[in-house]
Amino acid sequence: MEQIIAKGAEAILVHKDDKLIKKRIKKSYRIQILDEKLRKSRTKKESKLLEKASKFIPTPKIISSNENNKEIIMEFINGKKLSTHLDSLPNAIEICNTIGKQIALLHDNDIIHGDLTTSNMILSKENKVYFIDFGLGFESKKPEDKAVDLHLIKQALEAKHFQNYKEFFSAILEGYKISKHHSLILNRLKKVEARGRYKQQTC
Ligand SMILES: Nc1ncnc2c1ncn2[C@@H]1O[C@H](COP(=O)(O)OP(=O)(O)O)[C@@H](O)[C@H]1O
Ligand SMILES: [Mg+2]
Repeated sequence: MEQIIAKGAEAILVHKDDKLIKKRIKKSYRIQILDEKLRKSRTKKESKLLEKASKFIPTPKIISSNENNKEIIMEFINGKKLSTHLDSLPNAIEICNTIGKQIALLHDNDIIHGDLTTSNMILSKENKVYFIDFGLGFESKKPEDKAVDLHLIKQALEAKHFQNYKEFFSAILEGYKISKHHSLILNRLKKVEARGRYKQQTC
């Protein structure tokens, strides 16, 4: 049985058996040839990064990836999406600590997620935090890119979990201390915030 579980701005997500099919859909407002290119490159980039990230943190396993169809077939993760459950979980702080550690592991391996929000995290039945949706991700060694990634999760928490966001973000930073370069990145984060340029888009 097939079930559409999400239809976002970029992609349609179908749950079929124990699989998840993520297919990037045409955007009629984009020039067709550019749209093709963009969907193709994002599909390629996402599967490449998912593959790399899976060496360090829990991510859905890729079953197949087809740039020409703009389609990635991956393992379906049964669990709770953190955007809707984090506030009410008794171990929310511990989970945030894990999130911080996992961001550190990505960053220490030069993976920038690019869209760190709790909508892109699933808590599995085994209590693992899966990171998904690497479509805006990229590889970089730059402290600036890592700091902006942290700033994005801070803004996402502020928007979605405003009652708890300070405690949640502190727990994330606590977890992030396992990073080899955490003090450098945190200093950079202060600069990013002072500059105040990285406002998350809300539309
Ligand atoms: N591997 C997966 N297992 C279970 N659910 C998933 C999986 N991948 C995506 N989803 C669900 O589909 C939603 C949208 O997927 P996502 O990759 O974040 O696409 P978008 O680019 O549209 O945000 C997620 O928030 C999540 O609920
Ligand atoms: Mg998403």
